[in-house]
Amino acid sequence: MSKGYLAINAFDMCCIGHIQQGLWRHPRDRSKSFEHLAYWTDYAHRLERGLFDGLFLADVLGIYDVYRGSADPAIEGAVQFPVNDPLLIVPAMALVTSNLAFGVTVNLSYESPYLFARRMSTLDHLTQGRIGWNIVTGYLDSAARAQGFQQQMLHDDRYDLADEFMTVVYQLWEHSWSDNAIIPPLNQHAFADPNKVRPINHQGKQYKLDARHMCAPSIQRTPLLYQAGASSRGQAFAGKHAECVFLNGQSFESITALSRSLRAQALAHGRKADDIKIFVGASMIAAKTDAEAQDLYEEYKHYVDTEAALVHASASLGVDLSKVDLDAPVDPSQLKREAIQSNSEAMVRQHGKQWTKGDLIRQMVLGSRQTPIVGSGSRLADYLVAMQSACNIDGINLSRTVVPECFDDFIDYVIPELQSRGAFKTQYQEGSIRRKLFGSDRLPASHPARAENLGFRQ
Ligand SMILES: Cc1cc2nc3c(=O)[nH]c(=O)nc-3n(C[C@H](O)[C@H](O)[C@H](O)COP(=O)(O)O)c2cc1C
Repeated sequence: MSKGYLAINAFDMCCIGHIQQGLWRHPRDRSKSFEHLAYWTDYAHRLERGLFDGLFLADVLGIYDVYRGSADPAIEGAVQFPVNDPLLIVPAMALVTSNLAFGVTVNLSYESPYLFARRMSTLDHLTQGRIGWNIVTGYLDSAARAQGFQQQMLHDDRYDLADEFMTVVYQLWEHSWSDNAIIPPLNQHAFADPNKVRPINHQGKQYKLDARHMCAPSIQRTPLLYQAGASSRGQAFAGKHAECVFLNGQSFESITALSRSLRAQALAHGRKADDIKIFVGASMIAAKTDAEAQDLYEEYKHYVDTEAALVHASASLGVDLSKVDLDAPVDPSQLKREAIQSNSEAMVRQHGKQWTKGDLIRQMVLGSRQTPIVGSGSRLADYLVAMQSACNIDGINLSRTVVPECFDDFIDYVIPELQSRGAFKTQYQEGSIRRKLFGSDRLPASHPARAENLGFRQ
């Protein structure tokens, strides 16, 4: 894909209330059918009709119980609860599509690298190289308690654990089976050459393993690596590992600053600046004309649940916003460093150090910190083209508002405008998602996963 083409993912989650809190209550919204396979196969079909690059699925492993110190508001507001396992809906969607990729969030903090490596290789086989993994370390104590811990690890320790986790799964995906381990069918008395299926012996601080990878090599071997988390430690992690980085940002200035520092991190880790593709989270309301889009926007606003939006924001900012005055500056010492630091930093970039709960609520006009861009297909296409060149980014993760019409409208009104500006493809390229984005199925030799001396031996 030439740098010029914008990459577009639909951003969603296997639940009812995802980002724009309350919109599930809109009469045309169908997210309440998320427990049905037909909902997702129809969804995937729609996105492939619009030549979307992928469906990016968030995920959490704990309930939001920071706001009011209780889980009740999250249960009442369906705030990313209930939520099903996103990995399990992928094969059905892959069966009814040919090119759409699936970026799935998996929190590695509670995973066994050996079992996880097998699951992802299986999905890379089943999707024929269309699987991506959004690497997150999580931000919820409720998830840690669910796994038998008092609370989650410290923020930067989570990333240290993540570094070692990556080392283990890279060894399994890239270094256990040789490319020619499987004996060609012609003289196949044996299936594979045992000398070319090596055991991985990893004796590290957090993980110990002595095993061969259970799966034969898949098209990509290592799933396409997404990452979300843009604190300074998060960016260092992304600079080393990520192929695609998902970041939140509102102003072109803040997005440009993050894009620049992320690419600098890639260079600092011996990679090229554009070895990383940057996807910006965005919400858009598209229609034939600006006026129609504005009408739709006003209509959607009636369904916004600000309380539910505060439940979500409290968890990701790490502060109980029910205890914060509306117009008093939020005391930074109240913000837990263990949550999503880049979200707190984004509030300061957006509103200054003295930001208030009032600023946050005014920003959450559609139920989240992602203030929507509203307008005709032409206006939204101009915005996206301007953002891509001004901020040096590669794509967007387009959040769901009222589903599925939000994506149908984007496909009907914005995609043709982007294509007429030469900013979006008019057909899919063949091959795996990594080949579509980077030109080859396998990670480049410059990526740490391909390094020979990966293992930890005490
Ligand atoms: C844009 C974005 C999306 C994220 N999506 C998820 C998610 O779906 N599930 C999750 O557990 N954490 C998610 N996180 C948080 C990550 O777990 C992240 O590793 C952690 O919070 C630390 O982020 P930080 O480096 O910004 O402090 C997301 C973070 C960002 C910035």
